[in-house]
Amino acid sequence: MESLKKFYKECQETKTREEMTHYYDSWSMLYEKELNLADYRGPFMVANALAALYPEDRENVHVLDVAAGTGFVGEQLAKQGFVQIDALDPSEGMLAQAKEKGIYQTLICEYLDGNQLDIAAGSYDVITISGACNNGHLTCECLLEVVRLVKQGGFFVLCTRPCLLNRNESKQHFETWMDDIEKEGKWKMVRKDILPKYLKDEDGIIFVYQMM
Ligand SMILES: C[S@@+](CC[C@H](N)C(=O)[O-])C[C@H]1O[C@@H](n2cnc3c(N)ncnc32)[C@H](O)[C@@H]1O
Repeated sequence: MESLKKFYKECQETKTREEMTHYYDSWSMLYEKELNLADYRGPFMVANALAALYPEDRENVHVLDVAAGTGFVGEQLAKQGFVQIDALDPSEGMLAQAKEKGIYQTLICEYLDGNQLDIAAGSYDVITISGACNNGHLTCECLLEVVRLVKQGGFFVLCTRPCLLNRNESKQHFETWMDDIEKEGKWKMVRKDILPKYLKDEDGIIFVYQMM
């Protein structure tokens, strides 16, 4: 846990998102070992949430795993019978680890932010984001692209440590943005739950929204 804390601290100290991405590149070989030592269960929780939303026909569900990192989420989704899984992450090092797992159909080396990606609107049934709301990571603007990319009736699943939700660099609050999007009638909340033992004894939080 101590070396994980050191990582989080050093990662938070990077000044630009490119610096942060290089940091992940250099850390990519050790990432899973460190997180496993910390009993990181977020990806398992995300996959369970998706499995509950899709009790059958999981092979037809097209998922984009945003901030996929080394592919922890994809791995758990594959265990639950999901097969159409794409990964998006700006770190080539992290994506190289994910590629080795052989579970992602497409690997997209990009940032998700307020900019429009070269992906058609409504391309995905589901977007997942697990553990990537730290400072300098995803900003609230990325939610607009999530809304564009998920088809009507599809889902958005966000799982993280609750303390990270309002610690975003832009000083904006993810939950406020998600509420506003709901007020605009673009999605509706399906669940919001505290998840005990998300990371060792620390709680996590999961949000699930369905696109209108
Ligand atoms: C702590 S890791 C989480 C990886 C994985 N989701 C998991 O749960 O193990 C955070 C990941 O977010 C990625 N990331 C940071 N900013 C991003 C952005 N704007 N868009 C997409 N991914 C981003 C990093 O490259 C890194 O791989």
